[in-house]
Amino acid sequence: MNRMTSVTFRDRKGAEPIAMLTAYDHVTATILDEAGIDAILVGDSVGTTLLGYQDTTRVSMDEMVHHTAAVSRGVHRALVVADLPFLSMHLGTHHGVACAGRLVREGGAQAVKVEGCRGVLETVRAIIEAGIPVMGHLGLTPQSVHALGGYARRGREAAEAAAIRRDAQLLEAAGVFGLVLECVPAPLARDLTETLDIPVIGIGCGTPCDGQVLVSNDILGWNAGPVPGFVRGYLDTRSLWRKAFQQYIADVQAGALTEEDR
Ligand code: KIV
Repeated sequence: MNRMTSVTFRDRKGAEPIAMLTAYDHVTATILDEAGIDAILVGDSVGTTLLGYQDTTRVSMDEMVHHTAAVSRGVHRALVVADLPFLSMHLGTHHGVACAGRLVREGGAQAVKVEGCRGVLETVRAIIEAGIPVMGHLGLTPQSVHALGGYARRGREAAEAAAIRRDAQLLEAAGVFGLVLECVPAPLARDLTETLDIPVIGIGCGTPCDGQVLVSNDILGWNAGPVPGFVRGYLDTRSLWRKAFQQYIADVQAGALTEEDR
């Protein structure tokens, strides 16, 4: 079984679509790996999906390391990419490299993902120079929720679309091995997919890119909050679990559990 790396990931451009999903825990990671997923993202969406935070700005470095390590322990084949959380890239180049290093050394990640471009480009270059592959993330960048005023689609106006295009080129020139593009209009996503040499992984872009990424919990119906409208549901885990829990409660109340069950 060949391990997916940032190099084989990049080589998939134009060859075969790349399937990527999030995981935050060991069990989910083992199932995703068994299923044959290409890449697993330990997203800072762990904050909103699993930890009950209002947004991803609350997620700490320690939390990212903790969840990345749990995921890495369960993966033998897929590429493991971990998110650099809010502010980790903005406190100086040295700090950014140290944070990326923790995700690799303590968390076992093979690569890190960075939101945005301006203000972090020098640190992106330094992380790559340190030998850590970096994936970019443009379009809707959830860590900027307070500055953006919400989670609206990005790049609908010509000026913003041009800025996203320019940022994508800067990141590619800096050496990122792939780019997550979130919630931008389909023509812009198509254009970047066609013009960049690195794989573009779409989420909510309404068009096939070089690959797709989604939050696993969203497609499994395993979360407490709302799910973005572009997500295709594959399972209703929440109602399956609720029914199982209700059955257990009813069995206990009815005295229906045997000695062995107890
Ligand atoms: O944190 C995350 O899960 C992400 C994906 C939505 C791309 O960044």
